[in-house]
Amino acid sequence: MSQKIIFTNDVNQAIEKTLDGVDYNKLFVLTDINTAHFVMPKFKDTLSKNGVIDITIKSGDVNKNLESLSHVWKQLGENGATRRSVLINLGGGMVTDLGGFAASTFKRGIRFINIPTTLLSAVDAAVGGKTGINFNGLKNEVGVFNEADTVIISTLPLDTLPIEEVKSGYAEMLKHGLLSSPEVFNKLLEYDFQDYNPELLLDLLEESVNVKREIVRQDPHENGLRRALNLGHTAGHAFESLAMKRMSPIPHGYAVAWGMIVELVLSHMILKFDSSVLHRYADYVYRNYGAFNITCEDYPELLSLMRHDKKINSGEINFSLLGSIGDVKINCITDEDDVKAALDIYRDLVHI
Ligand SMILES: NC(=O)c1ccc[n+]([C@@H]2O[C@H](COP(=O)([O-])OP(=O)(O)OC[C@H]3O[C@@H](n4cnc5c(N)ncnc54)[C@H](O)[C@@H]3O)[C@@H](O)[C@H]2O)c1
Ligand SMILES: [Zn+2]
Repeated sequence: MSQKIIFTNDVNQAIEKTLDGVDYNKLFVLTDINTAHFVMPKFKDTLSKNGVIDITIKSGDVNKNLESLSHVWKQLGENGATRRSVLINLGGGMVTDLGGFAASTFKRGIRFINIPTTLLSAVDAAVGGKTGINFNGLKNEVGVFNEADTVIISTLPLDTLPIEEVKSGYAEMLKHGLLSSPEVFNKLLEYDFQDYNPELLLDLLEESVNVKREIVRQDPHENGLRRALNLGHTAGHAFESLAMKRMSPIPHGYAVAWGMIVELVLSHMILKFDSSVLHRYADYVYRNYGAFNITCEDYPELLSLMRHDKKINSGEINFSLLGSIGDVKINCITDEDDVKAALDIYRDLVHI
């Protein structure tokens, strides 16, 4: 994998250095309206010095669509971008996904640099080469695997991010901790959201990104091991969809944090995952994320949502589970009674 990842809180210097090493004719920066307002001013001088041309799109996943993509292509074209041009994506996962796809397809592909501005995009979306847009009512329906040349990861942009967004991204870090080692996981459980510490967060972020990077290195196109990154997501997506049906959406990472409780319970039931780790994790999640409310009347709907999770091949419910921290087993087929029992235990663990 040739992608370069820089972890730094001196982003301006990292931008300078990165651009010094790239031979380009025109430089573009893609933002959404929020990152244009909150983040761009932090890097404006450095980018202007390099003659950057701004492209801005509307914010939010609903705008990760063909219309925004076409706007980016148009702006690139009308401002004279060629295959020797470079696009910097400065934003959350919405911007890095869409900008990565725009760059990968414009003139059959121009180089791009990601500067993630949400914790979720830093730890997940900006790294690993998945790019794309939503289409025809379906998430990430059209896209390509193509990595950014360089990803500059920093906690500097995060100070304007709502705390819910920070916690949402942190859930993916907890997932990486569980896929990695007790040392990494224990450090993550010590992090205190009340005591914002950008340097410590950057260190944790580096460890976490390296976990994803290693998994992606072994399975870049999601043929097997990369499904480990689905930990927490089968139950998490079901919670997310149920919340949507109730017309009260929850952040993706919160759904994953709660979904991981269900899946660690299943890991304990099926693979003898250590129950003391499960309890420590559930306690951390309850204290920091609260609980997603469900009753046994929701079980049929949740089971049906889990069965229809798009990453599942057949009608069975299929999870990525853990034998222990760092020991993941993909494609664990479970029966419905076990899932119902795990949902009962989830409710006990989050006190509902
Ligand atoms: N490619 C992948 O592997 C991958 C992985 C996970 C998620 N994703 C995608 O990522 C997207 C979600 O990413 P996200 O959670 O970063 O959402 P997002 O990019 O929509 O950002 C969330 C909100 O925060 C705002 N924002 C961003 N940075 C900010 C900052 N520093 N200060 C203030 N506001 C800021 C955005 O404008 C937006 O309103 C989804 O489209 C999802 O499909 C992709
Ligand atoms: Zn996720």
